[in-house]
Amino acid sequence: MNLTNGKRKIALLYGGRGCEHSVSIASAEYVWSVIDRRKYELLCVFIDKAGAWWLSDGVPSPSGHDTYRASHKREVFPCRAGELCGLFDGEKILPVDCAIPLLHGDYGEDGRIQGALDSAGIPFTGADVITGAVCIDKGFTRALAEQIGIPTARGVSLPRAASLEDAARAARQIGFPVFVKPRRLGSSVGAGAARDEAELTSVFRRAALYGEVLIEEFIDGKRELEIGALFLRGRHILSPVGEVLCNGFYDFDKKYGGSTQTVCPADISGGVAEKIREYAVRLCEAASLCGTARIDFFLSDGRLLFNEINTLPGFTKDSLYPALMRAAGIDEGELFNLLVEDAANR
Ligand SMILES: Nc1ncnc2c1ncn2[C@@H]1O[C@H](COP(=O)(O)OP(=O)(O)O)[C@@H](O)[C@H]1O
Ligand SMILES: [Mg+2]
Repeated sequence: MNLTNGKRKIALLYGGRGCEHSVSIASAEYVWSVIDRRKYELLCVFIDKAGAWWLSDGVPSPSGHDTYRASHKREVFPCRAGELCGLFDGEKILPVDCAIPLLHGDYGEDGRIQGALDSAGIPFTGADVITGAVCIDKGFTRALAEQIGIPTARGVSLPRAASLEDAARAARQIGFPVFVKPRRLGSSVGAGAARDEAELTSVFRRAALYGEVLIEEFIDGKRELEIGALFLRGRHILSPVGEVLCNGFYDFDKKYGGSTQTVCPADISGGVAEKIREYAVRLCEAASLCGTARIDFFLSDGRLLFNEINTLPGFTKDSLYPALMRAAGIDEGELFNLLVEDAANR
C-alpha cells in the first residue's frame, strides 16, 4: 500500500459507457463531497461515453461530455508493472491504492470495469466481477431467489434473439397485463407495461434494443420497499427498510426528477420488515456479495416479492441508499472508510 502524506490514493471512476452515465456523474459529485479527504487523496477519473478514461484535476460535475473531453486531456489506462498498480498516463504509472467504481448499470455495475481493475491489480470497492455480472442480470437473480425459496413475480426470462412470437407466447402463459424489461439494465430504461398483444409489440421491441428481455406478471397497486446492505469481510450491516412513494411505474423521470418522495423507515409491519431483512441476507450470501447493495421488493396484496439486487446503488445526494445507511447509523464518510479499508485488505 502506497501512502503519500499518509493518505491512500483513491481513484473515483464515473461517467461510463452505460445508460446511466449522467446518474453516475451525479453520484461522483456527491461522493467527492462526502469522502474523508484527510485520509484519502482523490484521483477523479471520468470515463467518457466511448469508454476512454480521463484524469481530471477537478471536481466531478454534471456538465456535458464535450466539456469533459475539452478539459480532461490526460487519458489514462489501468495498468500494472511489477508491483506497481495504477493508472498509466502515457509516461508514468500513477499509483492507485484503491478504486471506487461509481458506475451504475451496464458497463459499470456489471463487472466489466471491475474486470479491468482486477486485471491491473488495483483493489476496488464493491462487488467483484462475478457477483456484479450475476446481479446485473434479473433473469439470474430471479433464478437464484427461486432456488433458495424467495418468492418473485411470475415471469419468463427470454433467451438472446427471442422473437416477438416468443415474447407473445411467454406473455400469454403469464397472462396479460405483463411488465417487460431488459434483463441487464437499470434506472427503468427500456421497461414498460403491456395490456395486450398489440401493446406488447412496441414494448418488447423497445426492451429488446438493450439485449435479453424479461417478461413478468404486472404487479398492480404495489408498494416498493428497499433495504440497504453493506457486506464486509466478517460482518454485514443492514439498514431499516425504506419505501419509494412512486404511485405506479417508478420510471427514469420519477427516479431523478427530484419529485418522488422516499421514506425510511417504511410504515410496514414488523413481520414484513423482518422477512425483508431475512431475504436480503440470504440473497446477498447466495450471491457472495461484498460491499454495497440495495435489495428491492414489491409488496402487493400481502405478497412480498423480491425484485432486484443493485450492487452499485445510486449515490446521488437524493438517493435512497445513502439515506438508508444513515438510518443504519453509518454516514457517507464512514461508509467509504469501511468500503476502502475492506477492499484494500481483501
Ligand atoms: N412486474 C412488475 N410489475 C409492475 N411494475 C414493475 C414490475 N417490475 C418492475 N416494475 C416497475 O418498473 C421499475 C423498474 O423495474 P426494475 O425491475 O426495478 O428495474 P431497474 O433495474 O430498471 O430499476 C420498478 O421500480 C417498478 O416501478
Ligand atoms: Mg429498480
